Amino acid sequence: MGGMEFNKIFAAILVAGIVAMFGGFVAKQLVHPVESEEFAFKIEAAEASEGGAAAKPAGPDPILALIATADVGKGEKIAKACAACHTFTKGGPAGVGPNLWGVLGGPKDHMQGYAYSGALLEVGGKTWTYAELNKFLWKPKAYAAATKMSFAGVKKPEERAALLAWLRTQADSPKPLPAEADIAAENAELAPPAATEAAPAATDAAAPVEGAAPAAVDAAAPATAEKPAAH
Ligand code: HEC
Repeated sequence: MGGMEFNKIFAAILVAGIVAMFGGFVAKQLVHPVESEEFAFKIEAAEASEGGAAAKPAGPDPILALIATADVGKGEKIAKACAACHTFTKGGPAGVGPNLWGVLGGPKDHMQGYAYSGALLEVGGKTWTYAELNKFLWKPKAYAAATKMSFAGVKKPEERAALLAWLRTQADSPKPLPAEADIAAENAELAPPAATEAAPAATDAAAPVEGAAPAAVDAAAPATAEKPAAH
């Protein structure tokens, strides 16, 4: 009998203990909501993507500055993807696409007798500069929607740089490497750092209502960021 009583009491204490532990756990979850961190993260992520979208419009990265030090051997390997349609040798025949000997720095639609679409002559300049080839090879159809070149493009900047560094050597006399002025012009066109900084400010001044949204996000971010620091 005495043993039964003891067992009951013991069981009661055990249950109370478990309840207390569990309660404590629940209470902890309530006091330290994981949510707040997530919330702070969400704002950061939103900010980053907002900034990222403004800083990086969908388009090719500048590569002219990379060409001088690019891996020419790697470029030759990348060019294997082009060989399905192009020959690169001097006087080589046209395939699906034209022969590409001396194409860098030369005129667009350069191969005599090849049935070009004419689309490439309608955009950019009339010459295949490094800068034009960078944009074209990033995504041919984005460069000229009507081009006959059905090729997805070379998306990685280092790969386009290597490809052009090699393509440069496939000529009677390789063209000079990109000049400082060309590099600066390309950067100004494809990666204008000043313009992205100035853009939100300009919106602020021109349209205070629109400007209020980014300002509110900015103000909220430091407030939530302080919480984890206070822990
Ligand atoms: C599926 C076939 C195909 C592939 C793969 C291909 N091209 Fe082309 N390329 C073409 C065709 C077709 C044209 C002609 C485009 C036109 O007239 O609109 C062309 C045109 C060009 C031109 C312009 C030539 C000129 O005389 O103006 C260059 C430069 C070029 N391609 C480079 C490349 C490079 C570099 C690669 C590999 C990264 C590549 N192409 C992959 C089919 C292809």
